[in-house]
Amino acid sequence: MSAVLAPDRLAEFLHGLPKAELHMHIEGSLEPELMFAMAQRNGIALPYADVESLRAAYDFHNLQSFLDIYYAGASVLQTEQDFFDMAWAYLLRAQADHVVHVEMFFDPQTHTERGVAFDTVIDGLKRACDRAAGELGVRAELILCFLRHLSEDEAFATLEQAKPHLGKFIGVGLDSSEVGHPPEKFARVFAEARRLGLHVVAHAGEEGPPAYIWSALDVLKVERIDHGVQSLQDAALVERLVKERMPLTVCPLSNIKLCVFEKMDQHNLRRMLDLGIVATVNSDDPAYFGGYMNQNFRETGAALGLDAGHLRQLSANSFEASFAAAADKQRYVDRLGEHCAAFGL
Ligand code: HPA
Ligand code: ZN
Repeated sequence: MSAVLAPDRLAEFLHGLPKAELHMHIEGSLEPELMFAMAQRNGIALPYADVESLRAAYDFHNLQSFLDIYYAGASVLQTEQDFFDMAWAYLLRAQADHVVHVEMFFDPQTHTERGVAFDTVIDGLKRACDRAAGELGVRAELILCFLRHLSEDEAFATLEQAKPHLGKFIGVGLDSSEVGHPPEKFARVFAEARRLGLHVVAHAGEEGPPAYIWSALDVLKVERIDHGVQSLQDAALVERLVKERMPLTVCPLSNIKLCVFEKMDQHNLRRMLDLGIVATVNSDDPAYFGGYMNQNFRETGAALGLDAGHLRQLSANSFEASFAAAADKQRYVDRLGEHCAAFGL
């Protein structure tokens, strides 16, 4: 069956396409309006006069220039209700974009460093995730990320704090400043996480070299690579990613905002698909980078000329790459098939 749809039908097909989001930092979904509301109710002063001047500061030239603002913004989060409200606002956006399954990152060290209890963070987020399944029809899971600019000892201390909550999150990841903090710095803490039965993922090859992707695979033994856009510099690595069906959670709008690619038409997502890499589309930090899931799909699709076949592949990849149970994956794939059939695909 041909994958060619007229532009308005293609937009409709994309809008309702069921999808999984596998790379989204919940702290990066905190919209300026909610940030100001939380600052006010918690008696915290933000170094910006209003929502407009905060948004105007979202002009990044690399990952670090974003992280500095992102960590400062997270300082308004104080209570369990704050974490719930942030996650709930994101989950409503996810539902509107027909995201049926989410694996959301959270950064406990950003909060425990400021004196917020680990339990406050995870309990607020988990309450929102649990409610989303029943009320929104969105299945949401949590992945705890270690901040790689901090030490492995600090990551171990965080894993210890997390141990009483093992049923509440499904895996661990690695985020924050990449260059100078290679995956192997966290070899032992990832081994311990695997021993606990947790899934493991890591940011690698966002700004860092292909060597970081190799070590995420070989040393951390990750099950997905977050970003991974630098992998295309290394033919042997591409061959391995394809052969092992190792997913990449790509975040196109993030890559443009952080100047990883100058313009969207230079993005390598389409090349990844053509090469047979299990690439997915995700929003990373949607409040900072200009859009949620469907905005990422729309802008990437328009710039790279993606057709319904590419979009179907991206949706199928997202379910394959997810940590959903086999029966849930089958339900998602069936739903994708029904959606395609409704468009004659
Ligand atoms: N890269 C690394 N760390 C992050 C990111 C990212 O894109 N977003 C939030 N923390
Ligand atoms: Zn990320």
